[in-house]
Amino acid sequence: MRIDTSGITPEEETAFLTLKARAVNNGWRRPILSDPGAAAAVDQIDYNFDALGVISPVVCQSSLRAKLLDDRVRSFVTEHPNAVVVDLGAGLDDGYRRVRPPATVDWYSVDLPGMAALRDDVMPPGPSEHTIGVSVTDPAWIAGIPSDRPAMVIADGLFAFLTKEQIIAAMRAITDHFPSGQLAFNDYGRMAIGVWISKLFPQKMFKKVNQLRGFEGYNDPRTPERWNPRLRLAEEFSLVDAPEVELFPTWVRISSRMARYSESMRRSARILRFSF
Ligand SMILES: C[S@@+](CC[C@H](N)C(=O)[O-])C[C@H]1O[C@@H](n2cnc3c(N)ncnc32)[C@H](O)[C@@H]1O
Repeated sequence: MRIDTSGITPEEETAFLTLKARAVNNGWRRPILSDPGAAAAVDQIDYNFDALGVISPVVCQSSLRAKLLDDRVRSFVTEHPNAVVVDLGAGLDDGYRRVRPPATVDWYSVDLPGMAALRDDVMPPGPSEHTIGVSVTDPAWIAGIPSDRPAMVIADGLFAFLTKEQIIAAMRAITDHFPSGQLAFNDYGRMAIGVWISKLFPQKMFKKVNQLRGFEGYNDPRTPERWNPRLRLAEEFSLVDAPEVELFPTWVRISSRMARYSESMRRSARILRFSF
C-alpha cells in the first residue's frame, strides 16, 4: 500500500514538486544529480505526481540547486567532521544519502509537522539523522539541536515562504545558537511578488498557495549582512555558471547560456552562502 498524503497542507505539498523534479532528473541518461532516493520516494507515495506537470526548467533548476548545496555541505563536513548539518524546509530531500557524511556528523531535517511525519515514513532516519517537525517561525525549532558544534545550515526552497521578519529571525536564531558555521540557501533576487509566485509555482494547482507571505527579495547579496552583523557573505553563485548546465536539454541549455549576460537573470537563480 502506498503512503497516504491526505493530511498534507498546500504549503507542505510544494515539496512534491521539487521531489518529482529530482526523480525525473535521476532517470535521465546523464543526470545533473544522482538521486535514487527521490525516485524511490515518488514510487512509495500515494499522490498524483503527473498532475504537477513538472517541466524541464524546473527539473534542471531543482536538481542543480540540490547538487550545488550538496557540494557545499560535503566540503564543510570534510573540514568539520564533528559538524551538525541542518536542512531547513527539508521536505523529502534525500541529501543525507547523497552527501554520505562521516558517521560523526548529525543531520537535522526541519519541516512543518505534516511533512516531517511523512518524511519519517518515506525516508526513515538512520542513526545520525533527526527530523524536527516544527515551523521555523516557532523559536523552539532550534532548541533540540546541539549548540556546541560547527553547523552547516541549508535552506532550499524555504525562504520564499517566509516574511522578511521571519527570515531575519531564523538567521538570528542560527547565529545565536551555533558557535560558528555556514548558511547556504537558494535565492531569486528582487522580484515582484506575483512574478515570484508564478516562478515558484508555474503549475496551476499551486496557484491555490496564494497565502504565501514572501517579500519581494533583494538584489544586493550583502543584504543579510546588514540584517545580521555576524553573517559574512562567502559566495554568490549563479546557477547559469555551473558546468552542469551542459547536461540540460538543448533549449534550456541555450536559454541558460544566454541568461549569463543579464544581471537580473543571473540573480534570479543563485546560491548565497554566508559564514558566521
Ligand atoms: C519548495 S519545498 C522544498 C523542499 C525541499 N527543500 C526540496 O528542495 O525538495 C518548501 C518546503 O518548505 C517547507 N516549509 C514551508 N514553510 C515552512 C516553515 N515555516 N517551517 C518549516 N518548513 C516550512 C514546506 O513544508 C516544504 O517542505
